[in-house]
Amino acid sequence: MLYALVIFVIAFVIGILIGRYATCPQQEEKQTSLPAMNDAIIKEADSEIGDDIINQISSENIRLYLRDLSELPHLAGTPADYTQAKELVDFWSSVGLDETFLTPYDVLLSYPNNDDESQMNRLFVYDDNGQTVWQSDLREPILHPSENKSDVVPPFNAYSAPGDIRSAELIYVNYARAEDFYWLMHNKSIDVTGKIVLARYGKIFRGDKVAQAERYGARGIIIYSDPADYDDSDTSHVYPDDWWLPDSGVQRGTVFLGKGDPLTPGYPAIETAFRLNQSDPSIETPNIPVHPIGYGIAWNLFGYMTGDEVPSEWRGGLNRTYRFGGNLSVSGQSGTIRMRISTSNAVRRTYNAIGIIRGAYEPDRYIILGNHRDAWVFGAIDPSSGTAVMKEISRVMGNMVKSGKWRPRRSIIFCSWGSEEYGLIGSTEWIEQYIKSLAARSVGYLNVDISVQGNFSLRALATPLLYEAIYSATRRVPNPDPLESSNVKTVYDKWLSSFPNADSSKPRISSMGSGSDYASFIQQVGLPCLDVRYTYDNNKYKVSSYPLYHSKYETFYAVDNIIDRGFRFHTAVGQTWAEIARNLADSLIIPFNVMDYAIALESLVDQLFADYGPKMESNGIRFGKCTEKLNQFKVYCQSATPVAHGVVIRIACKQLPYAIREINDKLMNLERAFIDPSGLPGRPLARHVLFAESSVNTYAGSSFPGLVDGMFEIDEAPDKVQRWEKVKQHYSVILFTIQSASSTVKDSTRFM
Ligand SMILES: *[C@@H]1O[C@H](CO)[C@@H](O)[C@H](O)[C@H]1NC(C)=O
Ligand SMILES: *[C@@H]1O[C@H](CO)[C@@H](O)[C@H](O)[C@H]1NC(C)=O
Ligand SMILES: *[C@@H]1O[C@H](CO)[C@@H](O)[C@H](O)[C@H]1NC(C)=O
Ligand SMILES: *[C@@H]1O[C@H](CO)[C@@H](O)[C@H](O)[C@H]1NC(C)=O
Ligand SMILES: *[C@@H]1O[C@H](CO)[C@@H](O)[C@H](O)[C@H]1NC(C)=O
Ligand SMILES: [Zn+2]
Repeated sequence: MLYALVIFVIAFVIGILIGRYATCPQQEEKQTSLPAMNDAIIKEADSEIGDDIINQISSENIRLYLRDLSELPHLAGTPADYTQAKELVDFWSSVGLDETFLTPYDVLLSYPNNDDESQMNRLFVYDDNGQTVWQSDLREPILHPSENKSDVVPPFNAYSAPGDIRSAELIYVNYARAEDFYWLMHNKSIDVTGKIVLARYGKIFRGDKVAQAERYGARGIIIYSDPADYDDSDTSHVYPDDWWLPDSGVQRGTVFLGKGDPLTPGYPAIETAFRLNQSDPSIETPNIPVHPIGYGIAWNLFGYMTGDEVPSEWRGGLNRTYRFGGNLSVSGQSGTIRMRISTSNAVRRTYNAIGIIRGAYEPDRYIILGNHRDAWVFGAIDPSSGTAVMKEISRVMGNMVKSGKWRPRRSIIFCSWGSEEYGLIGSTEWIEQYIKSLAARSVGYLNVDISVQGNFSLRALATPLLYEAIYSATRRVPNPDPLESSNVKTVYDKWLSSFPNADSSKPRISSMGSGSDYASFIQQVGLPCLDVRYTYDNNKYKVSSYPLYHSKYETFYAVDNIIDRGFRFHTAVGQTWAEIARNLADSLIIPFNVMDYAIALESLVDQLFADYGPKMESNGIRFGKCTEKLNQFKVYCQSATPVAHGVVIRIACKQLPYAIREINDKLMNLERAFIDPSGLPGRPLARHVLFAESSVNTYAGSSFPGLVDGMFEIDEAPDKVQRWEKVKQHYSVILFTIQSASSTVKDSTRFM
């Protein structure tokens, strides 16, 4: 990027020399000369500071931070939520950050009973005399002494409806995707109405599984981790000897489909907030009981199942015959399954911890780094591996500021979010509280949730303006893998060979769903965002996530001994994250490449045409208009000459700070242009017309989500005509939005 910038500036200077703007207009010179101006204000950043920061990130510090952070459970809304937040702001003050804050919110959370064994979440199977023949474990057993701590929350799915239900039938529904239920209903004539269903984790967000089960009329849903999706080994090499999930490991997790506090949608959960009634039907929490189990428990349940054998795609890795289910069979007689779920909602206080390094020249421009702090249990991978790294970056940067060695041009804000696991709550409430300031002043949001879930390669999600900053940082960070051949020198090299893009020219960067705290920054603010982590080889390991995900066994022991011995990969993520932040905070011109946006938009439009173009046109939508708006946008991005000339004039006339601010404001506002303040159709808080999560899988990113959702199964819909009208309306919003983006990049007085 530095070279690109140098070339950029040289091009301007040549432009000055040969162009018609070679001399300043006289009166402009008079008005604007600033003799006392400090040269530093218009000086390009010293990029060697980047190497300095990279070299100071210490793997030993990260290791010690992680050991402390993950020693005890730190579930959202418990005393540990406050304790860790307070320790973090104290740490930030001690390492030289300028300001720190704790921002409390009173939000709706959810907890299982953890002390009365007669009430705790449990599954039972009864025989035809009503005798208990089997019941599930209440807790995950201790497999390593470091887990022997109090306050380990037993397995549960947050916001499950409480309930004590029984059914004579148990139906296996594979991954509980829309297509799984559809196929059961239409090809197998199996109706799940009023029954309990058993689903396996994987493929889609668990909240969407529950929503589908409820939509098809199920009374309750049990979700288990199948070895095929979480333990690709021979099941003997499992935690604590290896990274595989043991049969007793259970994936906890939320099943709330919204973002932020369920009771205060769109507004901060502060003292004066109006709160919805907890039974308000608009709250996107399930109305049926949900319970997660490990594959050891699932193995037992499959033993009571009847019905036909499932096809091979539905089969998992248990040593059992997988059947569709139906009436339970207990020793040849009928049986009953019972779900006793006492999970209940409660309003609790959660905290964000915020630490700020004040920018030297542009303190009102923010580079925001964030990671959540709350964990289901010990959270040594999710999220404390990220917290430990963020602490180390803040230590290095804070010390440089304190010692007078460096102060970034723009402000850097470190954020430690509370209650992410429940539904991105801390970050969303903070955004909702400060949205006016954030929308006017933020440059970008850099998220790291888990920093290391494997030692194969970096993987990145980002919006297009940040591509260049990620590439440039990863080219500077040494490849952390000591076993790698010597021509794989950098994180970039390894990333390129591991996850190349379609033409293998660059590493692949995927679009963002809403799997972590970046979601509300994109959707509510319209901020360029990224999320990076080190990951495993997903060609070698066909798993749905790293195996220990959200189980009690995500311990420091596992990270220190199995996942990242020596903490080299944590260090590489810290170096990458820090360098991206430094580049954004320090560069004279914000290192956003607008052409990357034009290229990304073009490929989205091409994809839309390939998938839906003919269908849209045959329903009276002129696709050519979209191409037209896109081409205009490309022209403005490509030449950007009105912008360039503006800079040239003012560079020549020493009016630099304003000229630079003008350019930077355009860059900063470009992403904002794609925000529709009224939201996508039916989704007031999803406002980015290009990127939002898919409405059937919250984890996955989707392009033109409003259009794609609008056209989902539209031809079979009884209200087809009205639906096409809605699609046309949203299509016109998209055209308008692309045009707004063009206005944003055009010359400041020729935006019309
Ligand atoms: C857990 O710690 C307690 C108290 O130190 C001890 O009595 C118990 O045996 C330990 N349990 C396991 C499974 O290690
Ligand atoms: C489902 O049934 C339909 C109609 O009987 C058939 O055409 C289709 O191939 C079946 N699908 C699968 C996946 O078996
Ligand atoms: C909340 O809703 C429930 C169920 O509809 C109702 O019984 C209760 O009175 C409501 N509470 C308030 C404060 O409106
Ligand atoms: C699978 O289960 C059967 C019967 O329970 C048993 O005989 C067999 O050894 C098991 N196979 C494996 C690989 O565990
Ligand atoms: C399930 O049990 C009910 C009640 O005993 C019976 O009426 C029904 O036929 C059984 N279903 C199957 C598929 O065997
Ligand atoms: Zn997380």
